Amino acid sequence: DTPRLPLEYVKGIPLIKYFADALGPLQNFQAQPDDLLISTYPKSGTTWVSEILDLIYQGGDLKKCQRAPIFIRVPFLEFKVPGVPTGLEVLNDTPAPRLLKTHLPLALLPQTLLDQKVKMVYVARNAKDVAVSYYHFYRMAKVHPDPGTWEDFLEKFMAGEVSYGSWYQHVQEWWELSHTHPVLYLFYEDIQENPKREIQKILEFLGRSLPDETVDHIVQHTSFKEMKKNTMANYTTIPTEVMDHNISAFMRKGIAGDWKTMFTVAQNECFEADYAKKMAGCNLHFRSEL
Ligand code: PPS
Repeated sequence: DTPRLPLEYVKGIPLIKYFADALGPLQNFQAQPDDLLISTYPKSGTTWVSEILDLIYQGGDLKKCQRAPIFIRVPFLEFKVPGVPTGLEVLNDTPAPRLLKTHLPLALLPQTLLDQKVKMVYVARNAKDVAVSYYHFYRMAKVHPDPGTWEDFLEKFMAGEVSYGSWYQHVQEWWELSHTHPVLYLFYEDIQENPKREIQKILEFLGRSLPDETVDHIVQHTSFKEMKKNTMANYTTIPTEVMDHNISAFMRKGIAGDWKTMFTVAQNECFEADYAKKMAGCNLHFRSEL
């Protein structure tokens, strides 16, 4: 198995040790004006929106989207795991116009992306469901430290002592960025509610259009059920030593509100009080988080 290493702090941000090691080489990365960056705090709908965007770029052609796993079709900038090509290696073989993925907070985001005014699609998901999804992901993806019990993990999540740091800071700083940079700020729960409407928002943001039936087709193909069985989207091609889907599947539940099965009443009260403090003065509103 990939050894579970402690997180490494870079500019105050805790990161998976393997990914922290990728940040040096990432300094040489050159963004291109026609790149599109998909940015999220982990477990917020990255893979979902990546599949949607690749389908849009391929004009809805399912076959073309079967050409490679999602982490090859959409290079993950800071990705570095033993035995799997790094994000930068994948990027070098990716023709323009490129789709890129990152979870980096702004403190660690390569400046070239801002300088080149690269369009960005940010996806935010309610904090409680992110915490639950992240806990299960820590268990199955062994590049993370051991999550400990759910109780332990929830405390770390609230303290921002998980890989990529504070959810609260991430969602807020990218929200701020969306006021000065071309960032389309989407919510996981909105995509759940009406995927077609959200795909249309993406198309408008990109200045592209697709026939209505192609959009319907994209909606169908990117349902949780379809993506869970799609080996080019569900991460099952990653070696088991790195991600063990028997512990918890990457495509786990794909619903809003799963936190209710994990949070105790006491945990929920504590979380809400802390949430109100951390999100005070911010006009960002999430559904089903409170
Ligand atoms: S990662 O590792 O940070 O890139 O993970 P990410 O893709 O952001 O988030 C994984 C969660 O998204 C769910 N998911 C989906 N939900 C609904 N519809 C579709 N198509 C879909 N695809 C992925 C996935 O199941 C993870 O959430 P949980 O709550 O753990 O099921």
